[in-house]
Amino acid sequence: MFDSPKHAITAAARASERHQENTENIADAIRAHVVLSNKMSAFEYGCGTCLLSFELREKIGLITLADNSEGMLEVLQDKIRAESVDDMKPVKLNLSTDPFPDEQYNLVYTMMTLHHIPDTRHILRQFYALLNSGGYLCITDLDKEDGSIHGHDVANVHKGFDRKELASLAERKPADRGEGH
Ligand SMILES: C[S@@+](CC[C@H](N)C(=O)[O-])C[C@H]1O[C@@H](n2cnc3c(N)ncnc32)[C@H](O)[C@@H]1O
Repeated sequence: MFDSPKHAITAAARASERHQENTENIADAIRAHVVLSNKMSAFEYGCGTCLLSFELREKIGLITLADNSEGMLEVLQDKIRAESVDDMKPVKLNLSTDPFPDEQYNLVYTMMTLHHIPDTRHILRQFYALLNSGGYLCITDLDKEDGSIHGHDVANVHKGFDRKELASLAERKPADRGEGH
């Protein structure tokens, strides 16, 4: 609880600064592990206002930006227009319920969205199915936590992930190749 509107605004500004700083670190980690090139096509899932793609876009080709929230996509469209960006393509998409897209990509990444998806195993299969052969999947999300991040009353979110468990779940099994959508 905040004891005044001023404190609430300061806390929100601090959280936003932290998120921007985290985003820059995540972009650095992706650049350190994946050799990026302007010939690569990329797909960001649960892009929100697309902080991560804006960090990476100089180094990659066309980026498809997917989110299931109309509101987020409107904010994103405004940002794309304001910055005269022509290498980003926003799409409204819920990979858990919508028809599977036709395209495949060299790089699929997602930041702080996995914990919102109830069936982790299924969404991982969907991500793999979106990848071209030899493509890269980069996932960043909450470490395991006690539920206080979203509040204990919020249902349908994972309370973060154990890194080892998630890595083991994300290991590509032969049976998963090209399946799951
Ligand atoms: C915590 S926000 C993260 C946004 C952005 N990646 C970031 O880190 O700034 C989670 C995002 O995932 C989107 N999202 C949640 N469930 C989704 C789903 N099933 N399919 C697509 N997007 C989803 C939300 O609309 C929201 O934009």
